[in-house]
Amino acid sequence: MTPSPPGHMRRVLVAVAAAAVTAAAAAAAAAAAATPPPPWKDAALRRAACGAGYPGAVTPPGYCAYSAASGLAGPRGIAVDTAGDLLVVERFRPHKGRIRSYHLPPWAVRTGLPGRLRAVTLVPADEEVNLNHGVAVRGGFLYASNDTSVFRWPYRAGQRRWIGNGPRQVVIDGMPGGVVLRHYTRTLKFNAAGDLFLSIGSRETDGVDGTPWRSMVKRYPAAVVASWSKPRAAPLHWQRGETWALGLRNEVGLAFDAKGVLWGVENGNNLVRDDRLGGDITDDNPCEEINRLDKPGGFFGYPYCWSEHTLPAPRKSVPGRQHAWLPFTAPARPGAPRKKFRGIPITNAFCRNRARVVPPAACLPAHWAPLGMAFQPPPPPAGPAGVAEARRRRYAFPASGSGDAIVLSHGSFSRDPAVGYAVGRVRYTNGAPVTGQRGDLSVAVTPEVLFGSATAEDGDVTFANGFRPLDGLFWTDGSFAFTGDKTGEIVLLRYYW
Ligand SMILES: *[C@@H]1O[C@H](CO)[C@@H](O)[C@H](O)[C@H]1NC(C)=O
Repeated sequence: MTPSPPGHMRRVLVAVAAAAVTAAAAAAAAAAAATPPPPWKDAALRRAACGAGYPGAVTPPGYCAYSAASGLAGPRGIAVDTAGDLLVVERFRPHKGRIRSYHLPPWAVRTGLPGRLRAVTLVPADEEVNLNHGVAVRGGFLYASNDTSVFRWPYRAGQRRWIGNGPRQVVIDGMPGGVVLRHYTRTLKFNAAGDLFLSIGSRETDGVDGTPWRSMVKRYPAAVVASWSKPRAAPLHWQRGETWALGLRNEVGLAFDAKGVLWGVENGNNLVRDDRLGGDITDDNPCEEINRLDKPGGFFGYPYCWSEHTLPAPRKSVPGRQHAWLPFTAPARPGAPRKKFRGIPITNAFCRNRARVVPPAACLPAHWAPLGMAFQPPPPPAGPAGVAEARRRRYAFPASGSGDAIVLSHGSFSRDPAVGYAVGRVRYTNGAPVTGQRGDLSVAVTPEVLFGSATAEDGDVTFANGFRPLDGLFWTDGSFAFTGDKTGEIVLLRYYW
C-alpha cells in the first residue's frame, strides 16, 4: 500500500470496498453467464429467496438477505445443533441471558420461501447469571457463558423443549468478571475432537493492560470435558485449561477451517499514539488481526506489540508490521526497571522476532471490530449423495468461495467516517488468507462485502436502522445465518443464483 494522508486513506478504503463489491458483482455475473443455474434453483425460487430483502442492505448480484427473526434483545453468539436448529443467546434486558432455539416452519423448508423463524425458549432470561455471548452444543449438552463461568444443560439436538435453569451445571469458573470497562464476553468453540476452546479478552477496553495475564484462548481437552460428568470434577478453575494462545487482546470471533485449524479475529486497541510514527495515528491503526491459532503456546503480542495498518505520509506503510507499544519501551519513571516479557525488554526488535511474537496472518482495516468468523464449507461431494446434499443446500454460496472466511464486522463509532458494519468475505488459498504483497510480514486485505449498507457521500457506511453484524454461521440450507445485536435480529443471507 502506498503512503497517503489519513483523509485520503479513508476515501481509498471506502473506494476499495466499493470496488470489491463491483469486482465481485462482475465475477458473479460472469460465473452466472457461464454456468446455467442448477435445476433446483428455479426462477420462482430466485425471485422469492428473500422477499423484499433487507432494508438498506447492499449485497452482490446473486445474493440477498432478509430479517428472519426480530424482537431479540442484544442477540450475540449463534450456534447450530446436528438437527439444524439455531441457538442464540441474548445479552440485554428484558431477555438478558435467554437462550432460544430457532427453526423455519416446514413449508418454508419445503419451498425455500423466506419464512420467519419459529422460536422455542430453552433457557429463560436470568439476571442472576447474565449469560452474554458464548453458546455451543456438544455431546448431549448445551453450553453457554457469562463473565466468570461456563455453564451447561442437558440437551438433545432438535428437542425444541424448555430446559429451564434447574439443570444448570457450572463447568468452568473463576474467570475475572465485572462489566465496567472490561471485556466481559467469553467465546466457546468445540473442535471435531471435542476439545473446548474459550476466549477471554483484556481487562482494559480503552487502554492497554500491564500484562497479558487474561488476554488469551484456553483449551480444555475432550477428556477434561468428559470428566465433568463425574461427581466433583466440575467446576474447573479456568486457569487450569491449557493456554492455547496468549497475548490476544479480544479474540471474540473464533472459527475452525475445514482442516480443523483454529482461526481468530482480534479487536485491536482504540487508541494508538506514537510520536515516532506521527503522533495520534488511531484512525488507521492498529490493524484488526486475523490470527492463525494452529498450535499451542504462541504469544501474539498484546499488550506489548501492535500491528500497523497505515501510517501517515511520508512514512511507508507495511500493514501487519509489528511495533512496540511506546510507553513500554522506556522505564515508567527514571531509575525504574524496563518492562520485560519472559526476561526480554520490549523493543521493536522483540516485537518483530517471530520466535517471540506470532505476527497476524492478515490484517483487516483498523476499527472494523470483527466479532464473528465462519468458514465456507466445502461443496457437496460428487455422486447421488452429493446431489441430495446440494438440494438441501439450495442457498449455498458459490463453490469458488469454499474455504474462504466470512468475517462479521460490528463497526466502530470512534472513527470518522465510520468503517465496518458489514459481513465480508476474506479469500483464502491453500489454507491461508490471501494478502496483498509478497514477502511482507503481513499485509492488508479488504474483504468483499456480502452484506453492508450503501456508502454515503461522506463515506458513512452505517445502516439507517442501526444494524450491526455480530456472529454468524453457515446453515443447513446453505444460507449464512447471523445475528445483529443493535436491531435485535437474526438475518439470513442467501445465494439464490
Ligand atoms: C456469572 O455466574 C456466576 C456463577 O453462577 C455468578 O456468581 C456471577 O454473579 C455471574 N455473573 C453475573 C454478571 O451475573
